[in-house]
Amino acid sequence: MSKVLPLLIDTDPGVDDALAILMAHAQPNVRVLALTIAAGNVGLRHTVRNALKLLEVIGADTPVFAGAAVPLVRPADDAAFVHGQDGFGDIGYLEPTRSVEPEHAASAMIRLSHQHAGEVVFVMLGPLTNLAIALSLDPSLPERVRRLVIMGGAVTGRGNVARIPVEFNTGFDPEAAHIVMSRWPQFDLVDWEATLAHSIPVADSDPWMQFDSVAAHFYRAISRKTRDWMRRTRDADRWAAADALAMAAVLAPDAVQEWAERPLSIELDGALTRGTTVVDWWQRSGAPAQARIMMRFDPARFADLIKSGLGLPRDASG
Ligand code: BDR
Ligand code: CA
Repeated sequence: MSKVLPLLIDTDPGVDDALAILMAHAQPNVRVLALTIAAGNVGLRHTVRNALKLLEVIGADTPVFAGAAVPLVRPADDAAFVHGQDGFGDIGYLEPTRSVEPEHAASAMIRLSHQHAGEVVFVMLGPLTNLAIALSLDPSLPERVRRLVIMGGAVTGRGNVARIPVEFNTGFDPEAAHIVMSRWPQFDLVDWEATLAHSIPVADSDPWMQFDSVAAHFYRAISRKTRDWMRRTRDADRWAAADALAMAAVLAPDAVQEWAERPLSIELDGALTRGTTVVDWWQRSGAPAQARIMMRFDPARFADLIKSGLGLPRDASG
C-alpha cells in the first residue's frame, strides 16, 4: 500500500471547494489533517458553516479551524453571485451539529507543520490570507511543508473578475498573495486559465452528479445554482472546476503532463490590474523561477478523481 499523504486544506467553501474536499476525503491514501477556513467566495461565517456541514454529510471528523474574516489590507467583493448567498447554493440545509475548533487557522497551520514536518502538503483553495499570516508569524514554515499547491492567478492575464486580468483568489487579497508568493521558495500553481483549459463537457459531467451516493446528492444540490450560472454566462457546454483541478494536482502529481517554472510577482497597485499574477515568461528578470505553473493534466485522471469524490467507481488507472 502506498504511503499516507498528510494534507492540510485551506479553503473558502464555495462549490468547487466542496468538490475538491470530497475528492481528498475519498482517497484511501490521504489523511486530511485539517480544513483551515478563509473568507472569500462568501463571508467567513458561511464558509466555516459550509465546511462543517460538508464534513458532517460525508461523516468525516476532520477538524475545522476558522481564519481571517477580511483581507489583509483592502476590503474585497465576494463571489456570492456564483456560489449563492451562503456559498453553497442557498439550499437551506439544516445547521451542522459539529463545531469549529477554538484555535486560529494560522496557528493550526504552524502547529501541524511541526507535527508533520517534512511530510505535510498544503493545498490552498481560497485567498491566501491565512497562509500569509502564518508565514509572517513563522518565516521558517516553508522548511517543514513538503509541497505547497495554490489555486490562483491567471498566468497570461485572462482572469475571471471585473478587473480583467485578475483571478478571484489573488484579486481578493493581493497583499496576502504577494507575501506568500514572494517568500515561499518554491510552490505549484494551478491557475484560472488551466481551469478553463481542463473544463469538462457537461454531457460527461452531468451524469456523474446523478449518481446515487451521499456525496453526489449533496454536491448536486449545492452546485445547481453555480452550474446554471455557468451555462448562462460562460460556455454552455463545458463545466470548469478550479479547486477540483488544484486538488487533482495534489492527489495525482504523476498525472501532470507539463509544468512551466517561471518567476512570478503580484501587482499590488494597478487600478485595473491589482491582484494580477505577473509571470516572467521570457525569464528576462533574472529572478528565481519560484512558481511551477501547471500547464497540462491528464483529463482521464482528472475525471476519475472527480468521480471518486462523488462516490462513483473509478475508470482510469492510477
Ligand atoms: C477560485 O475562485 C473561487 O470562486 C473558486 O472557489 C476558486 O477557488 C477560482 O478563481
Ligand atoms: Ca475556492
